[in-house]
Order: sequence, then C-alpha cells, then structure tokens
Amino acid sequence: MNIADVAYLPEQPAHDPEIEHINEEAFGPGRFARAAYKIREGGPHERTLSFVAVYQGAVIASVRMTRIAAGEGRALLLGPLAVRPDYKNLGIGRRLVRFAIEAAEQADAGAVVLVGDEPYYGPLGFGRVPRGQLSMPRPVDLDRILAVELKPGALAKLKGMADHEDRVSKQTIPSPRLRGEGGPKGRMRGSAEV
Ligand SMILES: CC(C)(COP(=O)(O)OP(=O)(O)OC[C@H]1O[C@@H](n2cnc3c(N)ncnc32)[C@H](O)[C@@H]1OP(=O)(O)O)[C@@H](O)C(=O)NCCC(=O)NCCS
Repeated sequence: MNIADVAYLPEQPAHDPEIEHINEEAFGPGRFARAAYKIREGGPHERTLSFVAVYQGAVIASVRMTRIAAGEGRALLLGPLAVRPDYKNLGIGRRLVRFAIEAAEQADAGAVVLVGDEPYYGPLGFGRVPRGQLSMPRPVDLDRILAVELKPGALAKLKGMADHEDRVSKQTIPSPRLRGEGGPKGRMRGSAEV
C-alpha cells in the first residue's frame, strides 16, 4: 500500500458501523467492561474532535474523543484508538493521536486524558497523572492514566472521579425545589458553573 493514499478525516455518522467493527476487532467484548467505556456510556463523543483514517474508501483506523469532568476540571478523554491489523506499524495510530490533540487544542480544551500504554503515548506528549489524583468509575491501573496538558493549570484541576461531562452536569442540576426562592445559593452557583 502507499501510505500517502491514507486520508485523515473528521468522523461522520456514516463511519459508525465500520468504527464499531474496528473496535470489536481490536478490543473484543471485553471493551464494554473497561473504565473508559463506562465513562463513554454517559453521553455522546465529540465527533468534530474524532478522526478516521480512510484507505481505498474503507475506514482502517479510528480515534474518538469524549468530554469528561473530574472535580473542577474539564478535559477530553482520548479513545478508543484502534488500527486494523493489516495497517498497524505504519504510523497511522500516531497520526490520529496528533490530529486529536491538535483538534482539542483548537477547541480550547485544557487537557487530553487517556487510559493506555505509556511507552506508546509517552513520545506523543502524554505523561502519568500523579497516582491518586484521578480515578475512574471502574478499576483501572492508575499508572496507565496518562494526560497531556494543553493549558497551564488544567491538569491540576482534574481531581477525583472522572466521568462523562454530561453525566456530571446532570447530577449537579438543581432540583425544582432548589430552583425556587430560598434554595441554597451556593448549590445554585455551583450548578451554573458546570
Ligand atoms: C496501539 C495501536 C493503536 C497502534 O497503532 P499503529 O498505527 O499500529 O501504531 P504506530 O504505527 O503509530 O506506531 C507503531 C509503534 O508503536 C509501537 N506500539 C504499538 N503498540 C504499542 C503499545 N501498546 N505499547 C508500546 N508501543 C506500542 C510499535 O511497536 C511501533 O514501534 P516502532 O515505531 O518503534 O516500530 C494499534 O496497534 C492497535 O489498534 N492496537 C489494538 C488496540 C489498542 O491497543 N489500542 C490502544 C489502546 S490504549
């Protein structure tokens, strides 16, 4: 194959079945039990920040990005990243990660987080999040929580349990009772921030 013929495109809804197949092939049914999957169940991914690699009209690799929240912090969760077996070790995975980081930067995100292998992601700018700073809704090897900071200070704000930003927002929407007069103002202010 000619690597120059691989096109990198923003993800479209029409790519969904092929992406699903690629992720099934790469991760198998065990993917549903992963911590990152649990987070991604909480809401949609960001299509405009997600990319596919296309060769001869077929999707051969995909990376997705999902908005997450942890404590006061907001970030993008990178993954799943998967490349079809016949196209591995051609630099396609790295290109997709770089596209995703660039897109996150342009979207004004503070940080990109993922659960993955440091030897692969380290050279792409990711480093370990200090142990204990961030946790996931399912058991995860804390040394595999990696991040790249795009805005100074953004990483330090990510603290505690990470979850889909939509799920966190829903949890902090005040109940109708609290919206009325006399509701605790602190709670109202907190809700407006998310
Ligand atoms: C991991 C994956 C995305 C890499 O994509 P790729 O396009 O083959 O990778 P690239 O061509 O960009 O990089 C290849 C290099 O990364 C290395 N590499 C691949 N997977 C690695 C890993 N898990 N840990 C460390 N290095 C790894 C290769 O050995 C190769 O090294 P070299 O350049 O010194 O020869 C791909 O192998 C894949 O889809 N794997 C299954 C799904 C998966 O594990 N996804 C990552 C979840 S964290």
